[in-house]
Amino acid sequence: MSDKLNKAREYEERKEKMIAPEMRPLFHLTPRCGWMNDPNGFSLYKGEYHLFYQYYPYETVWGPMHWGHAVSKDLITWEYYPAAIAPDMEYDKNGCFSGSAIEMEDGRQLLVYTGVQKMEDEDGNIREVQTQCVAFGDGKDYEKYANNPVIDSTMLPEGAGKYDFRDPKVWRENGKYYIVVGNKTEDIDGQILQFVSDDGINWSYDKTVIKNNHRFGVMWECPDYFNHDGKQVLLTSPQDMLPEELEFHNGNGTLCVIGSIDENGEFCEENCQAVDYGIDFYAPQTIKTPDGRRVMIGWMQNWDTCGIRRDDFPWFGQMSIPREITIKDNRLIQWPAREIENYYGKRISRQNVLISDSASLSSIEGRCVDMTVRVRSTQAELSYKKFEIRFADNGKAYSTIEYDPVDNIVKIDRKHSGSRRAIVHQRRCKVAGNKGEISLRLVLDRYSMELFINNGQQAMSMVILTDVRAEGISFKAVGELLMDVTMYELERK
Ligand code: FRU
Repeated sequence: MSDKLNKAREYEERKEKMIAPEMRPLFHLTPRCGWMNDPNGFSLYKGEYHLFYQYYPYETVWGPMHWGHAVSKDLITWEYYPAAIAPDMEYDKNGCFSGSAIEMEDGRQLLVYTGVQKMEDEDGNIREVQTQCVAFGDGKDYEKYANNPVIDSTMLPEGAGKYDFRDPKVWRENGKYYIVVGNKTEDIDGQILQFVSDDGINWSYDKTVIKNNHRFGVMWECPDYFNHDGKQVLLTSPQDMLPEELEFHNGNGTLCVIGSIDENGEFCEENCQAVDYGIDFYAPQTIKTPDGRRVMIGWMQNWDTCGIRRDDFPWFGQMSIPREITIKDNRLIQWPAREIENYYGKRISRQNVLISDSASLSSIEGRCVDMTVRVRSTQAELSYKKFEIRFADNGKAYSTIEYDPVDNIVKIDRKHSGSRRAIVHQRRCKVAGNKGEISLRLVLDRYSMELFINNGQQAMSMVILTDVRAEGISFKAVGELLMDVTMYELERK
């Protein structure tokens, strides 16, 4: 093991002991210590779920990237494993960037990742060159392939850029390994390249899966490409997006392209949409579970909102709850992985509660809950103008979800959550209108809220760093409406 990896492993082991479990979310994965960004290598290995992550153990800011590692039997409770890889070779000395993992036929675990190396270009400028590298392991210890990188700039198709070429996602099909990799073309546009290999080591360029054609942002990061529910799906996270109505917002976003494969084997787009309509979600990866579900996990943060931080916390960054995804009517549907139900404690349910004219009901509270709220008009016509759920409320700080049934817009808002930073605190999402009928499922953990609208037709995620004792939940209406609430407390067994 290299000195660098050894140092990281010793450091994280010591540091983890100093972080009380109460300082972390109840069930959202945080870095063992220090900084976390993208999920990496989300995969099954020898019957267990493995999740690696972009990791800088030494500080709560981004730094030379390592891969952190955690393992779970049920996607909800994670056990920390030692850091998997460190930037300790010439070809990855400036970072082991995002990538993926797979169980090989011979029982080894293959990691495919991007090696970053600063080099001088033709004009004497220092630039980061990105290549694809592999490592093999037993689920805990990994050895980098002696002849890394396995894909370098000489293997790129014409027009592809060598400076933004990263985030390989691997799968196996018809006895071969495939990866898709994000790339920025020389004329500054995103595209996804596919490579193929018989053994995971010798790769060749296969095809360009999709081109952005200057539509959604510039560089496309962290692609994932799979077939599910009879559809071909591409997930990617574009940088430098421009807004489009309430579908896409400025900056780093998420994109889901749903389509099919035509008779020539080409990917044909049928629908493009955001993955998550909230504030903090980026770089998701998926796996197929043994029972055939597609489960997605994202970094529950965004590069544009990293300013929301608690300087007293020994960790930064967390993963989203694992979400089962399905494709229905060419739309992406997301729902918390059913395993969360094994962590349900006390159930509280109130049906047909009349909420009228700003009267609020606050018989329900908690900071770690899974709560479904259904509201409807009291008559055939729309009987209210606004519905609000206030949560993580201590009288001074609070966050809200607002539904406007006239324009059919859901808004999440953390501007009063205690944050003193000038970053994005609100986001709105257009939903299907149904005369004031809507269902909102909130998964609240200590430092986050994930909202699933109308049975998962849209998801909105946000980090909230309000003191955990802020447990108030209340409901409010302008006009009158009927509400059903079912809430489960979430607990560790
Ligand atoms: C996405 C990303 C990836 C890169 C990694 C670096 O969030 O920018 O493209 O591999 O983070 O940490």
